[in-house]
Amino acid sequence: MSKVYNFSAGPACMPEWVLKTAADEMLDARGSGMSVMEMSHRSKAFESILQETKDTIRRLASIPEDYEILFLQGGGNLQFSMVPMNFNKNGADIINTGQWTKKAIAEAKKLGRVHLAGDSSDKTFTYIPKITQEDLDPDTDYVYICENNTIYGTKYKNLPPHEGKRLIADLSSCIFTEPLDVTQYDMIFAGAQKNLGPAGVTLVIIKKDLLDEQRDDIPSAMLDYKTYVDHDSMYNTPPTYGIYMVGLVCKWLEEQIGGLENMEKINQEKAGLLYDYLDNSKMFSNPVAVEDRSLVNIPFVTGDPELDKEFIAKAKEAGFENLKGHRTVGGMRASIYNAMPVEGVKALVDFMKAFEEEHA
Ligand SMILES: Cc1ncc(COP(=O)(O)O)c(C=O)c1O
Repeated sequence: MSKVYNFSAGPACMPEWVLKTAADEMLDARGSGMSVMEMSHRSKAFESILQETKDTIRRLASIPEDYEILFLQGGGNLQFSMVPMNFNKNGADIINTGQWTKKAIAEAKKLGRVHLAGDSSDKTFTYIPKITQEDLDPDTDYVYICENNTIYGTKYKNLPPHEGKRLIADLSSCIFTEPLDVTQYDMIFAGAQKNLGPAGVTLVIIKKDLLDEQRDDIPSAMLDYKTYVDHDSMYNTPPTYGIYMVGLVCKWLEEQIGGLENMEKINQEKAGLLYDYLDNSKMFSNPVAVEDRSLVNIPFVTGDPELDKEFIAKAKEAGFENLKGHRTVGGMRASIYNAMPVEGVKALVDFMKAFEEEHA
């Protein structure tokens, strides 16, 4: 088998331990004589998998009991609609940091008022706008952010002020890449396909009392967070296999990595290797404001689109997959989520050094 290093932004590489465990359990999961895929979601066996997954997530991030842990479908994009559908009564303060908040703004506007509290479009989203309480609209219900912009490689190091308002955040690309204090938020969501498991599951962590502030015109049970709370995420058939895989990834984080503090150290080591090289390279550079750099999505360019193309092609030949930047920005991007081993980043940096020397 030839091993590649997969730098995809999502769906992304998975921990080998998780894939091997899933393979071992594929035909006979936990003595059931069947695969998790084949189980009724109403069976005792699946109910225990769901409960175990929630318990592991709760332990991993010390999530207090006044927060619900829910599994939805429809990815981050459905959350762009569901959040305003449930909570935009008097308006939403949204900080625009690129693609993922642009889409959230467009959806929120269809459902209510939006106030743009900050915007980094003036410098092609290469920084996080630092806003103050005065930048917020006094009448809005919540402040909404995308905490780590997967495309531009930016990350909030401090959450924005939101006194008197709820804070709702898209953590799709940074969840569990570092310790998470959920009490700083009223709701977070994350598509699984970057750090949590396969595509098809969306994790929502929501403060119970936020559900007292829902709109009264939510058009469908499936679009109402309370439905998922009342039915333990099983109002309809949930993405059973995805939930099982999220459980395995979180078990890996807890038992194999030793928790989120350790995960953060490993991620810092990986990001440090790549940023250090980029900062010293004469060929490659990273365009993001240093204080706002993402730990896990690292875009870089040579400044010459033809050379970028050559680099991507040669890297692919050498076993480094999915280094092409997002189609809206070009260049390259290395997504080095939790499952990317340190050796993968070391190998990439060595390859980049050799490419640079070759073209000196
Ligand atoms: C930060 C962020 N939010 C939301 C999304 C959209 O997620 P989905 O494709 O699951 O709808 C993405 C996709 O990459 C993302 O990176």
